[in-house]
Amino acid sequence: MPQLAKRMGRAKPSAIMAVAEKAKKLKAEGRDIISFSIGVPNFLPGEHVYAAAREALSHDSGQYGSNRGSDALLDAFLKHLEGSGLPGYTRRNLCVGVGAKHLLYNLAEALLDAGDTIAFATPYWTTYVDIADILEAKTLLLPCPPEQNYKLTPAQLDAALAQKPKVFLFNNPSNPTGMVYSKAEIEALAAVVAKHPDTWVVLDDIYNRLVFGDIGYHNFLHSQPQLRERTIVVDSLSKTYGMPGWRVGLIAAPESVAQAVVTLNSNHITNIPEVVSAAATAALSGPQDVTTGKVAEFAAKRDLVLDALAKIPGVVCPRPEGAFYAFPDISVAFGKTHAGSGIAIDSDVDVCNALLEVKGVACVPGSAFGEPRALRISYTCSTPQLTDGMARIQQFFAELV
Ligand SMILES: Cc1ncc(COP(=O)(O)O)c(C=O)c1O
Repeated sequence: MPQLAKRMGRAKPSAIMAVAEKAKKLKAEGRDIISFSIGVPNFLPGEHVYAAAREALSHDSGQYGSNRGSDALLDAFLKHLEGSGLPGYTRRNLCVGVGAKHLLYNLAEALLDAGDTIAFATPYWTTYVDIADILEAKTLLLPCPPEQNYKLTPAQLDAALAQKPKVFLFNNPSNPTGMVYSKAEIEALAAVVAKHPDTWVVLDDIYNRLVFGDIGYHNFLHSQPQLRERTIVVDSLSKTYGMPGWRVGLIAAPESVAQAVVTLNSNHITNIPEVVSAAATAALSGPQDVTTGKVAEFAAKRDLVLDALAKIPGVVCPRPEGAFYAFPDISVAFGKTHAGSGIAIDSDVDVCNALLEVKGVACVPGSAFGEPRALRISYTCSTPQLTDGMARIQQFFAELV
């Protein structure tokens, strides 16, 4: 009997999808389930995006497209980069992908040989570890516990980069924590990166327009523009424009890296569809009011979640300033038992299983993100559902003995 490739023994399905599937199944069985699990923005793009897609359909070429991306989409992304304080790129620095996930995978293929090291902060987005595992890269995890607001410090980064990892991957705003680095914090980290010339820098900034209050979006390249020669900026339309299913991501990179990803595209996907490109171009270059409105709405929902969590004794939640996640430390529950059900709680996974079982609320265990003291709440559902779900979480903790 022929065997699967050895690498498939290292490939794991997404832990987040597993929770989402379980919640979906219970819902289908008629249970009253509130899902805070999957990181979906829960809104649809503006009408102009659909109009552009319809228009593209009516002129469909029916042909293969560019491996790099359509000129119109690349130009729209160049404008977006300029608007984010990153001018001076050309089309040759860019490449499109089937979402940021696909680009991150291709970047890992392009930059890492088996045995090379990729460094990133914990808590991390689960896929980072999964991609490294599949490609047999080593991970250098930099623990950023709630006590340091889940943020990487310059000293930690300095020590990590002194080990000369091939790639340093940095995510801001963060999934799963919602943390956003301030201008001063980014400048300090960028100064450290500048001291270590042997490491590629991948900036997963896909939540860059989902930032609350005045903290703003800051990028290493703002203060250290010379880092551009070894930095790749990853962006996506999924979260910002309510288009996760459309599958569009983009990178801005040194020409050699962009070309490597173009070459991988030419062997994997050829191109993203024409209609999708047209919709993505319209989203990036058209009115931004849907996104702006959502930022205000998510900030209000963040407040609702924090207020509810603050009422649970012993639960600590560093204040998210962007994206749409909260990542409370719920370790106060460990060693207790849920009074009504008799379920013993010894871990984040126990908390999430019991919450789903007893209260019908689906959250993702923090261990999926490398922080087993926490759980992730994705708070994009409707306000009534969010209020109800948070009340159920409060009740659950009140019932622990
Ligand atoms: C930090 C981070 N990077 C990348 C992605 C992938 O996004 P996309 O839908 O563009 O593949 C996600 C999606 O959840 C994410 O949270």
